[in-house]
Amino acid sequence: DIPDRVRIHEVGPRDGLQNEKAVVPTEVKAEFIRRLAASGLKTIEATSFVHPKWVPQLADAEQLMPMLSGLDARLPALVPNERGLERALALGVDEIAVFGSATESFAKANLNRSVDESLAMFEPVVTRARDAGAQVRGYLSMCFGDPWEGPVPVRQVVQVARRLFDLGCTELSLGDTIGVATPGHVTELLAALHEVGLTADRLAVHFHDTYGQALANTLAALQSGVCTVDASAGGLGGCPYAKSATGNLATEDLVWMLNGLGIDTGVDLDRLTATSVWMAAHLGRPSPSRTVRALSHK
Ligand code: HMG
Ligand code: MG
Repeated sequence: DIPDRVRIHEVGPRDGLQNEKAVVPTEVKAEFIRRLAASGLKTIEATSFVHPKWVPQLADAEQLMPMLSGLDARLPALVPNERGLERALALGVDEIAVFGSATESFAKANLNRSVDESLAMFEPVVTRARDAGAQVRGYLSMCFGDPWEGPVPVRQVVQVARRLFDLGCTELSLGDTIGVATPGHVTELLAALHEVGLTADRLAVHFHDTYGQALANTLAALQSGVCTVDASAGGLGGCPYAKSATGNLATEDLVWMLNGLGIDTGVDLDRLTATSVWMAAHLGRPSPSRTVRALSHK
């Protein structure tokens, strides 16, 4: 049994562009997000309020957000700490995401904190954001494997997931940051989460396509009842603090599969593909998405 509707959480402007060597001009980012919204995407992660030295590609968050006002889409942004929250709230951002790690190595590399210290850092962020009426997504990275630590035990992932919900996150996105997951592992993790009451309706999946498994993993997650899927237009992305991370699951590849399954997403695939082709021209290299390539060479 699979859900008849899937909400796509588009991460291209954030997860995609944070990993580009070139800094994309703010006006191009704004146009990218407007085009994504016009193709029917309803949730578009726009940027991050992180330290500008850590992610210079997204240092223009203050300039970008006001350019998007009035857009018919939810525009969440990543926030690691109270300083980031203040920046986001000052711009009227009403949906944020904190981003934790299932492993100590990645917590250190990505946040300069241990897992405990990073959860302590998120605690006032989540509380203050919820008090301000904002939705708070939690990300959990390295849910399957970690470049330094190897395979990540399911029970370790379940423990940190539990703690992120305990802080007050309303949704949790399970990240396969380096793309090593396979479908059986996905089913096993979702079953273990279900067993402790973390049911699929509160979960999202965030796959990277490093080993070509992202769509297979997505199908496994849908079969376990997940109906929110993260994807990145054109397959942009990776993570600057996890060297072996390559592109995210391409939104076009996801929409192609969901269309074939008769699952409604509200996305116009031709418009979306045209957007990724346009963005690829700005970045100076072709999209790695098979669907973008197939549809743009018809
Ligand atoms: P730190 O160096 O420990 O920072 O970095 P600190 O708390 O010691 O503060 C040092 C200085 O930075 C202070 O300034 C702060 O005010 C300033 P000073 O008092 O010295 O003048 N500062 C800030 N300035 C602007 N905005 C802020 C901010 N915070 C502190 N928010 C920190 C800690 C968390 C800030 C840093 O590690 C950081 O920014 N990390 C972000 C890394 C990142 O964005 N990674 C990519 C996203 S995660 C991902 O991609 C995975 C995901 O896609 C899922 C998946 O695939 O698994 C989500
Ligand atoms: Mg990611």
